[in-house]
Formats: sequence, C-alpha cells, structure tokens
Amino acid sequence: MAKDVKCFNKIGCVSSLGMGTWGIGGGYWVPDYSMDREWVEALRKGIELGMTLIDTAEMYGGGHAEEIVGLAIRGFKRDELFIVSKVWPSNASYDNVLKSAVASSKRLGTYIDLYLLHWPSDAAPICETIKAFEKLVDDGVIRFYGLSNFSVRGIEEARSCTKKYDVVAVQNHFSLLHRDDEKDVIPYAQREGLMYMAYTPLERGQLARNAYLENIGRKYGKTAVQVALNWLICIDNVIPIPKAASIEHVKENAGAMGWRLSREDWLEISRVFGSR
Ligand SMILES: NC(=O)c1ccc[n+]([C@@H]2O[C@H](COP(=O)([O-])OP(=O)(O)OC[C@H]3O[C@@H](n4cnc5c(N)ncnc54)[C@H](OP(=O)(O)O)[C@@H]3O)[C@@H](O)[C@H]2O)c1
Repeated sequence: MAKDVKCFNKIGCVSSLGMGTWGIGGGYWVPDYSMDREWVEALRKGIELGMTLIDTAEMYGGGHAEEIVGLAIRGFKRDELFIVSKVWPSNASYDNVLKSAVASSKRLGTYIDLYLLHWPSDAAPICETIKAFEKLVDDGVIRFYGLSNFSVRGIEEARSCTKKYDVVAVQNHFSLLHRDDEKDVIPYAQREGLMYMAYTPLERGQLARNAYLENIGRKYGKTAVQVALNWLICIDNVIPIPKAASIEHVKENAGAMGWRLSREDWLEISRVFGSR
C-alpha cells in the first residue's frame, strides 16, 4: 500500500511519512468523543494514501486515541500497517508496563508493532522497563520496542540492559525549527540502524504559513507543509509523524511523499532555517 518507504534491518520497511494522533480522541488523559467519525475518516484516508505508520499513546485522550486508531485500521491488511503506541512514564514499572501494553493492545484491537517509553521515568529503573518490553515481545503483545524523548546517553543506558531484543527506534522532537537532534541523536540512529521518528514536524501548523518554504515549493508544485515534511523525509532513518485531523490536511501531508527535494534546495533550506 505504501509506495514511499524506508527500510530498516531490524523492523523491515515502513512508510516514509507517518501520522500522529495527539489531540485525536481527546487531550491529556481526557477522552473526547465529539469528532470520532471525522477522526476515523481522516486516518483511513491517510492509510489509503500510503501513510501506514500510525503513532498513538495510552495518554492521548486517556486511551481514546488508541480506540480511534483501532476503528480506523479495520479492513486494512494488518501486516501493511505499523502501529506505534507508548507507555506513560508513571507506568514504567515491570508490572505496569505489562498491564498498560495489554490495555493498549485491547483498545487498538490488535498487537502493537512498536511500543515506546513515552518519556524517561523516575518510577522505575530503565532496566526494569526494558525487561518488561522484552517479556511483551515474547508474549506477542508487541513486536519491537523503543524510547521517546531520550538523549544518546539515555538510549545507550537502555541498550546496556537488553538481554534478548535491542531498542529499534527513538521518537524525539525534530523539525526545521527544532534541530537539536541533528547533532547527536540522528547521527547515532543512522549509525546504529534505529528508526528516528520526528514528532511535531510542522511545529503544530506553524510551518504551514512559512513564505520561504512556499516559495521553494512553487518549483515543485508543492506547498510549504509538503516542503517542510519532505526536508525531513530526505534525512536517512527519519520518519516524520505529522498529526492532521481533517481530510484536507491529510491529503496535503501525503503529498510530501513520492518525490524528493534536490540536494541543493535541501542544503539551502537547512542553511536558511539553521541561521534563524
Ligand atoms: N513522543 C512525544 O513526546 C510526542 C510529543 C508530541 C507529539 N508526538 C507525536 O507526534 C505527532 C505530531 O506532533 P504534533 O501533533 O505535536 O504537531 P504537528 O504534527 O507538528 O502539528 C499538528 C498541527 O498541525 C496542523 N496541520 C497538520 N497538517 C496540516 C496542513 N497540511 N496544513 C496546515 N496545518 C496542518 C494540525 O491541524 P489539524 O489537526 O486541524 O489538521 C495540527 O494543529 C503527535 O500527534 C503525536 O503522535 C509525540
């Protein structure tokens, strides 16, 4: 289904652009049922257009985002999708990770392809969380696991406790306006073969209104949003995961796939944004 893909040794191929779900199905641990139909339709449209990686979390809408994802994926071939969910740091102890993952999987109505620790946690030592992740892989609840909002040091610490299965992915904030990770975490992910999911890639919509990107996009028949997302897609191992609640936005975002900025334009955009 997805035609523009990136392939990784450990996890195989996933769509070069994913879909986020923060705000879909509610907010911080609070569900909202008011737009369920629109949200499901938007996600289904995105899957049809090849954005087959979907990112969600137990925290989003207190689990309701996962229920929406579960409804949206019905009827699609399961092995063509890649579902990512996350455990909240207060649930990072061994028993709670197991409970959270099973509950997420029930809401999704399927196994989880990739399960992430949402933030570093004080609730349990990282090795305890990793032990639970490895048990979940053995139990078939999740296929792979990874980390979110982690530094290279944190990732290495987590990897030092793995016994059977390695960390395969990291999800951090990265966009044209938020470039910290290009110094260390992204090169690390590239070296180690980890998938790097870039969250908040549109800076919550701010990049849609950027006149410079709009101008570059004209050359390609693309919009500012599509240029901003393509700039990320051009980076090895990086999968941006924009969130869009409307079909119109989903269609526009999907148009960031299937083409690439020229090397010259990519470098020029990097320079212009880097110097802000
Ligand atoms: N791991 C973490 O700690 C963490 C933190 C933050 C986010 N995330 C993940 O990353 C995903 C994306 O990040 P985000 O939601 O913070 O920010 P984002 O994707 O940068 O921006 C989402 C905002 O951009 C708007 N938008 C989307 N497509 C657009 C388009 N084509 N034109 C104009 N506006 C557009 C959306 O509007 P509409 O909704 O109205 O379409 C929404 O308001 C999240 O949904 C979540 O899955 C993870």
